[in-house]
Amino acid sequence: MNFRVPLGYQDITWEDKIAVCDVLESGQLSPGPKVREFENAFAKRHDARHGLFVNSGTDALRIALSACKERFGWKDGDLIAVPTITFVATVNVILQVGLKPLFIDVGQSDYNMNDERLEVFIRNSPDHYAQLRAIMPVHMFGQPCRMTVFKKLAKKYGMKIIEDSCESIGIAPLSGDIACYSTYVCHMISTGVGGLAITNDDDLSLLMRSYANHGRSTNYIPGFSQCTDIKKRFVFDRIGYSSRMTEMEAVLGLGQLKRLDGYITSRQEIAERLYDGLFKFKHLILPEVHSKHGFMMFPITLHTVYKRSWNKWNLCKYLESRGIETREMLPLINQPCYKSLEIDESSHSVAQWINETGFYIGCHPGMTDADVRYVIEAFGEFFNAQKKNHVRPKKASLVAA
Ligand SMILES: Cc1ncc(COP(=O)(O)O)c(C=O)c1O
Repeated sequence: MNFRVPLGYQDITWEDKIAVCDVLESGQLSPGPKVREFENAFAKRHDARHGLFVNSGTDALRIALSACKERFGWKDGDLIAVPTITFVATVNVILQVGLKPLFIDVGQSDYNMNDERLEVFIRNSPDHYAQLRAIMPVHMFGQPCRMTVFKKLAKKYGMKIIEDSCESIGIAPLSGDIACYSTYVCHMISTGVGGLAITNDDDLSLLMRSYANHGRSTNYIPGFSQCTDIKKRFVFDRIGYSSRMTEMEAVLGLGQLKRLDGYITSRQEIAERLYDGLFKFKHLILPEVHSKHGFMMFPITLHTVYKRSWNKWNLCKYLESRGIETREMLPLINQPCYKSLEIDESSHSVAQWINETGFYIGCHPGMTDADVRYVIEAFGEFFNAQKKNHVRPKKASLVAA
């Protein structure tokens, strides 16, 4: 379906198209100078010394975890703390590298991992805590977690931090040991597919490069290792992945990185207009902003205190019928693929409530003023229609028998 207000948009300029054509003419499609330039510029923009461009945010996370597991000697089954609301990829990579997710419920206002709950868990569950190796905070929808708190916890309890910053390019600089970003469509920057892992740790950087390149020995990584002995060229020290990007995606990323600040400002302005227009609808809970927010999406939840004859599905279905694209707010703990983990949903009440009432709509520079007004009007029309459909029950006791 062609949506009038889709979840994301693509900003490809003539300069970007020319840059892609230049790559095609250059004779080098595989990772070369443009990939290096993008990695360096991206890392610098996010306060890091090293960047690695791979073929998805998921791969960046998987490579980051694999490198940490090897470097810090984590064992199969060791625990990684993750929030109860995030895209499934965050949890999938933990399981794929042989580790185990420890679910920590999210905060009610920002949908990020609740740091107080994490600390309570650590204090109350010494057995589990002994197996806890890292925290994976996810900066949801473009709003950074309270990293100073996570960093204190990590230091106090000897844990690493791998940030899932897939939704927060330009907003969440490197704060932990490694941060991973996605450049998939509808993200803050889009190269079609793609992801980056950044770090300030020289050893982790080289290890991640090795994992992205089939596990090639870190002694022989062209451009990054000193060794030029060709006998070492085909030595693979670990079982790695094939996760390389092309020069074409790199030039698209470079172009958009230059325009990133403009995108963020524009998203924030659109979010402000959505707030102004949607604020009056008493059923809606709008996102609370406690720090700089990039609004990769505009998340909305529903109050449960009001009696309703409709649910979020009725509302989302109506919005979609009006050409406004919606998505569920990243339900996780109720997914069939995690059945064997036997997650006790009832102990994560915020996630349960979000799964029941949460969804998001687009909030991006491709939206015009008229689009924003159109979205607000559509919500109003839905609520008005509900009022009209609502047949007031007869006051049975007052009606003569
Ligand atoms: C929070 C989060 N983590 C991980 C990913 C995975 O990124 P990719 O789709 O590039 O693999 C996404 C992307 O949608 C995401 O939103």
